[in-house]
Amino acid sequence: MQINLQLIPFPPNPVFLSDRVVVVIDVLRSTSVMTHAMSQGASEIIPVATVEEAFQMAKAFPKGSIILGGERESKKIPGFDLGNSPKEYVAEKVKGKKLILTTTNGTRAFHLVSIGREILVGSFLNIGAITQRCLELDKDLLIFLSGNEGNFSLEDTICGGMLIELITREKKKSISLTDASYCAQILYQRFQNKLLEAFHLSDHGKGLIQRGFEEDLFFCSQINVTNIVPIFREGVIKI
Ligand code: MLT
Repeated sequence: MQINLQLIPFPPNPVFLSDRVVVVIDVLRSTSVMTHAMSQGASEIIPVATVEEAFQMAKAFPKGSIILGGERESKKIPGFDLGNSPKEYVAEKVKGKKLILTTTNGTRAFHLVSIGREILVGSFLNIGAITQRCLELDKDLLIFLSGNEGNFSLEDTICGGMLIELITREKKKSISLTDASYCAQILYQRFQNKLLEAFHLSDHGKGLIQRGFEEDLFFCSQINVTNIVPIFREGVIKI
């Protein structure tokens, strides 16, 4: 198994992608929100790139059956039901509902890798389950980090590094890592018992604190709170 990790969210080569399992990671906060919302019973999530697309798509569904969620500049979008704090996505609000989600980096990332062989939603919340699924699938892997407006993201890289660490611990032989994968693994080893500290150091973590979302850093730093593995296929995320 080759494990490749992309440190910056540019569109990967389609030929390379078509044979890979892809794990998309946006720890703060998109893939944490997606994982949590699915664990609370959301029936599916449709990640879209723009606010206009979200409003347009909502018109296709009966009122009351969908929830519009997401953020711009980390804040809830006017006219939307929910923002992008994972703790907003509780069963009372999302159970049995379709969620149309648009965020600055995370939802776009899924469309950049949509031709991957299998596309999984990764976060610290479900990292153990994602590890097991990658081991079962036993295919070459691309860990795709959503980044921060096109830039490197410390928290996403550490999460990718943890996935690499867990996979290599289980499957000691026949793993080949790229330079970026080694780099992420080393960064994870540096911060493994200090995830929250790393989030506080990160650009996006600091931005969230400034905007009043410090609690979300703690929420998104929790490890293995659910066993679900959401999968993105044909434009929709389901379990
Ligand atoms: C994103 O997709 O960029 C993030 O989830 C942004 C955020 O929640 O602040």
